[in-house]
Formats: sequence, structure tokens, C-alpha cells
Amino acid sequence: MIVVIGSINLDMITTVGRLPAPGETVRGTGFSTAPGGKGANQALAAARAGAKVRMIGSVGKDSFAADALVCLKDAGIDLSGIRETHATTGTALILVDERGENIIAIAPGANDSVLPGDISQAVLKKGDVVLLQHEIRLETVEAALDAAGKVGAITVLNTAPFIADAARLLPRADYIVANDTEFDLYCEALALSGADRPQRMKAYAARTGRTVVVTLGAEGVLAATPEKFVTVPALRIVPVDTVGAGDTFCGYFAAALAAGETLDRALARAAAAGSLACLKPGAQPAIPHGKDVDAALAGMVG
Ligand code: RIB
Ligand code: NA
Repeated sequence: MIVVIGSINLDMITTVGRLPAPGETVRGTGFSTAPGGKGANQALAAARAGAKVRMIGSVGKDSFAADALVCLKDAGIDLSGIRETHATTGTALILVDERGENIIAIAPGANDSVLPGDISQAVLKKGDVVLLQHEIRLETVEAALDAAGKVGAITVLNTAPFIADAARLLPRADYIVANDTEFDLYCEALALSGADRPQRMKAYAARTGRTVVVTLGAEGVLAATPEKFVTVPALRIVPVDTVGAGDTFCGYFAAALAAGETLDRALARAAAAGSLACLKPGAQPAIPHGKDVDAALAGMVG
């Protein structure tokens, strides 16, 4: 079982020719809403990868809630751990330009109501994979790491978005998944030195005894464990919208770990899924299904 403890948002997406500068107004070329939030996106990706998923989170008592949850419901994810609060459902205002580049502002709203006390609801068991991100309160992320450690569940912490205070939590997760920018920032916070990124990743793995995965977008994925260093290519694609690509990677990665796959295979499937997520607009609507990921992987070697 994969247990995702994290954020649920309704994304409001405007496409623009180019992103505006501060103080500037640009004319949009389109608008849509789509379910999002890093936690929810990762839960859906894990389910589409074939895993059994339970989600712990919080939404408002408003019309956004149903829209935010629709894909999770359709995917058969266990939503019994989602609480309704008086705050507004989380939202993300997203601008995407012609090259697929984006800027995002989130208003956490109800996501801030996911509290350490909610972790008992997660009923974690040995062998579960607990998937976490930084879009809910850090004290809740910490409580989840504690609870998972006690029962022997595996923890995957996606360190997005970057929060300096979160650096101390990273070494407590069995796996961290960061993008290149985040990893470089955490290296400063953790005083990790090394000539280049791979050296710093190896230093992290040696110091913590854990695994660090760094996603590089079009350049693929790197991972360091105390024993080895792995490089995985991305699929060659022309991105339309990269929103949700990192979340797709994390959900697929967790699902592969839960299925007992090797690190190399888990990274390869997750990297391919993350690439495919860039081919469609929006976060959840773009998350590929397992069969499409396998077809893309087969095409790569064939
Ligand atoms: O990672 C992408 C997600 O970040 C979006 O779905 C948006 O909700 C923000 O949380
Ligand atoms: Na996308």
C-alpha cells in the first residue's frame, strides 16, 4: 500500500505567449481548471502506475473540493483519510508559456489543516511506502516520518517546494527526491560540499546512509545510494507543459518500490512516466497510465 500524506489543490491555469514581468499584464491565450496539488498528483500517479493508494489530506467545504478530488475518486484511491475543514480548498494559480515553462503561486488553505494528529488515521504498516512532500505543514511531515520509522514503513520525501527549514528532515527519509535546483539549495542548508552535483549526492548518501534522487528535466535522473551511483536518461520529447512531471516521477517511483522493483527499474519507469507527463497540459490530466509508460520504455530499447 502507498500512503500519500499531502496537499490537494484546484489548479487554475492560464496559458500565455510569455510569462509577465512584475507589474506587467499579458493577455492569456486560454484558461482551464484541473485537479492538482503535489500530494494528490503523486497519489494519482502511483495509482495509474498500478499501486493501491490511500490519501491523507484536507479540503474545504466548498465547490472546489469535488473538482479537486474527481480524478482521485475515479482512480479508486482510498479517500477515507480526507477531512473537510472550514478553510478554502487549496488553490494554485499557474501561468504556462509557449515553451511549457511555468510559474505557480499556491494558497494552501485547507492543506494547512493536515496536522500531526491526523497521522494515526494513516494506519501505517510495515512494508507500506509513505510518500510525502513540502506542501503541508512540516510538523505533519515530521510526524509521518516518525510514525513510518516506528512501524518499518518505507519513506519517500519529495523535497518540493524548497523550504530551508525542511533541510533537517531530509536525512530522516529513506529516499529523497529533489529537482536539481532544490537539491543545490538543500546542499547549502546541509553544508554538503563536493566539486559537482554527483559528488554532493554521493556525500549526502555517505553521510546519511540513505538514497538521494535528483531529477534534471530533459537531462534525466541521477541517484546516489551509499553503495552506487545511477544515471537514467529522460525520454526524448518536446514538452508542452511540465506541470506535474515531478509529481508523476514521484508517484511512479513509490509505486515501483512498493512492488519490490530494483532501484534501477524504479528510476527508469518513473523517469519515462515523468517525461510523458510533459506532453499534455495540466497536472493530473497529463499523468500517463502504466501501459503507456511501458510502451514508451519498450520503444526506447527496441
Ligand atoms: O507540482 C505541481 C503542483 O504544484 C500543481 O498541481 C499545483 O497544485 C502545485 O501544488
Ligand atoms: Na503536464
